[in-house]
Amino acid sequence: MTFFNLKEILSAEQISDRVIELAKKIDEDFAGQHIVLLCILKGSFIFIADLARAITVPVTIDFLGVQSYNGDTKSSGVVQITQDLTTSITGRNVIIVEDIVDTGLTIHYLINMLLTRNPKTLKICSLLYKPSKVIKPVNIDYIGFTINDLFVVGYGLDYKQYYRNFPGINILEKEENDSI
Ligand code: IMP
Repeated sequence: MTFFNLKEILSAEQISDRVIELAKKIDEDFAGQHIVLLCILKGSFIFIADLARAITVPVTIDFLGVQSYNGDTKSSGVVQITQDLTTSITGRNVIIVEDIVDTGLTIHYLINMLLTRNPKTLKICSLLYKPSKVIKPVNIDYIGFTINDLFVVGYGLDYKQYYRNFPGINILEKEENDSI
């Protein structure tokens, strides 16, 4: 495994401020209603933990395991469900919480799959959005930050399963010595 030096492009504080703004907007849009937040594993586990704690309307949380990257920096284009929801979303207000929308292939697949379960409403919330890479355009209702075509890690996002624990969003820079 090659490790990289990281260069931070969004700090933990910038992310935290934006997450609070997104939560406020969700609170306004769903005032007086309940929501189901869907955590798309693994990348959105940190984002959803912060977002859920900033939302004040009643929420339930469920987890959907999805794999589309084969552990590298290029989308395989094939979306695989590795873990299904454990609760019904029929008739519920559902928000898919994603870490990043890149080609849009994953979110497009998820929307079609979840619509077959007849939710009352289905919205998308993504911390990051890379418009330059979109293959399947989708309407994202809540976007944290729009970024350039860069491979990023941290705040839940990984490269070969590493770097998820970094508090900010970073780009991979030059290689360090191999240590594993
Ligand atoms: P898409 O199907 O190309 O939109 O990719 C969606 C998924 O690919 C995301 O949920 C991430 O797990 C992963 N991904 C896309 N871009 C990045 C990145 O820059 N860093 C880490 N993971 C990424």
